[in-house]
Amino acid sequence: MSDKTWVDDLEIKDLTEAQARAELARLARVLREANTAYHTHDSPEISDADYDALKARNADIEARFPALKRADSPSDQVGAAPAEGFAKVRHSIRMLSLGNAFEDADITEFDARIRRYLGLAEEAALAYTSEPKIDGLSLSLRYEGGQLVQAATRGDGEVGENVTANARTIADIPERLEGAPEVLEVRGEVYMSHADFESLNTRQAERGAKTFANPRNAAAGSLRQLDSSITAARPLRFFAYGWGEVSAPLSDTQLGAIERLAGLGFSTNPLTTLCDGPAALLAHYAEIEQARATLGYDIDGVVYKVDDLALQARLGFRSTTPRWAIAHKFPAELAWTRLEAIDIQVGRTGALSPVARLTPVTVGGVVVSNATLHNEDYIAGRSATGEVIRGGKDIRVGDWVQVYRAGDVIPKVADVDLSKRPEGAEPYVFPTSCPDCGSDAVREEGDAVRRCMGGLVCPAQAVEKLKHFVSRAAFDIEGLGAKQVEQFYRDGWIAEPADIFTLQERYGRGLQQLKNREGWGEKSATNLFEAIEEKRKIPFGRLLFALGIRHVGEQASNLIARNYGRWEEFTAAMDGAAGFDGPEWERLLGIDGVGEVLARSLVGAFAEDNERASIDRLVKHLEVEEAARPDSSGSPVAGKTVVFTGSLEKMTRAEAKARAEALGAKVSGSVSARTDLLVAGPGAGSKAKKAADLGIETMDEDEWLALIGDV
Ligand code: IVH
Repeated sequence: MSDKTWVDDLEIKDLTEAQARAELARLARVLREANTAYHTHDSPEISDADYDALKARNADIEARFPALKRADSPSDQVGAAPAEGFAKVRHSIRMLSLGNAFEDADITEFDARIRRYLGLAEEAALAYTSEPKIDGLSLSLRYEGGQLVQAATRGDGEVGENVTANARTIADIPERLEGAPEVLEVRGEVYMSHADFESLNTRQAERGAKTFANPRNAAAGSLRQLDSSITAARPLRFFAYGWGEVSAPLSDTQLGAIERLAGLGFSTNPLTTLCDGPAALLAHYAEIEQARATLGYDIDGVVYKVDDLALQARLGFRSTTPRWAIAHKFPAELAWTRLEAIDIQVGRTGALSPVARLTPVTVGGVVVSNATLHNEDYIAGRSATGEVIRGGKDIRVGDWVQVYRAGDVIPKVADVDLSKRPEGAEPYVFPTSCPDCGSDAVREEGDAVRRCMGGLVCPAQAVEKLKHFVSRAAFDIEGLGAKQVEQFYRDGWIAEPADIFTLQERYGRGLQQLKNREGWGEKSATNLFEAIEEKRKIPFGRLLFALGIRHVGEQASNLIARNYGRWEEFTAAMDGAAGFDGPEWERLLGIDGVGEVLARSLVGAFAEDNERASIDRLVKHLEVEEAARPDSSGSPVAGKTVVFTGSLEKMTRAEAKARAEALGAKVSGSVSARTDLLVAGPGAGSKAKKAADLGIETMDEDEWLALIGDV
């Protein structure tokens, strides 16, 4: 392709229709080949300028002959989401995250908490493994009969992306295992070494391609490639640190299981060590921190895990993290830079958030140009409760400020150097009206945040609500991200979530209107409408979360969905609770995990006329799936209300409660006519009597364990 024969000299205005068709076919092929050369072989065959010229020519011909635009037109591939994404994979066992600890005291508390939960005395032995926390991305590898059959990213923990073809290209990942259990899911971290990261970035820079901010981004970008030959050309590595589904136990200890994985051919981290308690954990942490700079790959802390797997099983999980493990993170990274401006962003609940615009600075390998300033008190040098912070120093535009970031957390402005304050720098005056819609911005008693009172009339709130609505944990509509939502909102195509579901009806006829918009082609428009259609059927919990009601997060939404089951039952209950009293209000507050703040916000949102009308308009277009407890299928106690009383001997009260809840039961502290079952240990008193009076089934601890299959 060195003679540039692909750059045709025929002027577009002179092309006949037949010539134009042939030229579009040729351009599609040439551009596809150029892409493959660039991505697959890391050796582009044409310059970026030539590539751009070809794309421009293609677009100009399409503009003159719109009817000739090809289904695989290169125009549709510009900066758009990939035409087809990865297939989704539901994890047979959820991929969870880890709780974080930062201080030594957090580790002593971690150990104490576990002992309390298990009812272990202080002197009883309790061993932990300690190992580096690799800063990459987690991957689950499923082997059946010793053969790698599937590799999936974590995704939202329940559903990840199928990256099997890509995982097969990673040298550390065995294709076949000898002597493995019939089913074995190996979990670990994909990462890139510092040396490989540097040379990848050098190669990228040499050919004018995008460079990566850090090895983690490079690893993620390389694994999540639709074309596995690109992944193959990227030097990825894998450390195994855990497992998901297994048909036979790997060992009875964490360390034993890791050794078994190493025996099967996986790379495991050589710094993994057994420690006999918090003091040994902290000593190992210090050792790893020392070694950090020489490891040759990024780590962001140390992970501690209870070694005894039977105890791990007893400890189980909180909603998203295991009780038996914790990540002890390294301190955040710091840098100084200039504060150029303070901008105010308006969030979906109307919160005015001050954002620091900074002279770009590298903090721990990442270029930071924005950081959060939290709220007006923080800028003024006060905490939300009025105490002095930073010695009372306020933050002013022009100041020299210290920025810190820890892991993926949004960077923060931590400190200010008064000796470098420019002369004439004025204290920052926080706005009392919304910078977007001009409505009053009010700070309510006890709230650290000032909020725009504009509600749905505030464009910033409406757009943020829409962005939240389409986000990954909410409706997750492929092809409809933050950018597209902003575009549609700006042009008046979408004002509220319901409008998304009438988009095709209003603008899709013959695809003409959408496909003629900038950034949209026939294929992307069709894909978008299909993606929207797919989401008309939506789980109850996702719908509730997507509404973006203040204090109603993902966990809470799922919890509420499971409690009410059907959307109609739930909305009727919200109507019943509208006065913040009565049985429906009590029922909501009675859900373990729902506090008063959340309950008020939720009921308030459904009682507010405009908001409710907007929700009802949306739901008309949807089929809301009934929520069921996923973990409790087949559980003999699902949906039952259980009360524990007296002393339990085989488990602590906390453990009994958590176990029962995991099986779908509701645990209550008092016996009433709604109680289904009383588990009574020795010394049970008035509760046992009341249960007998009410004719409630009563059993002892052993019978309970037999019932739930724990003996
Ligand atoms: S154990 C049940 N061990 O950290 C959770 N995770 O912040 C089991 N990670 O999602 C995770 N190194 O991607 C574990 N040695 C290690 C790890 C590790 C890195 C990642 C993993 C996890 C994230 C949680």
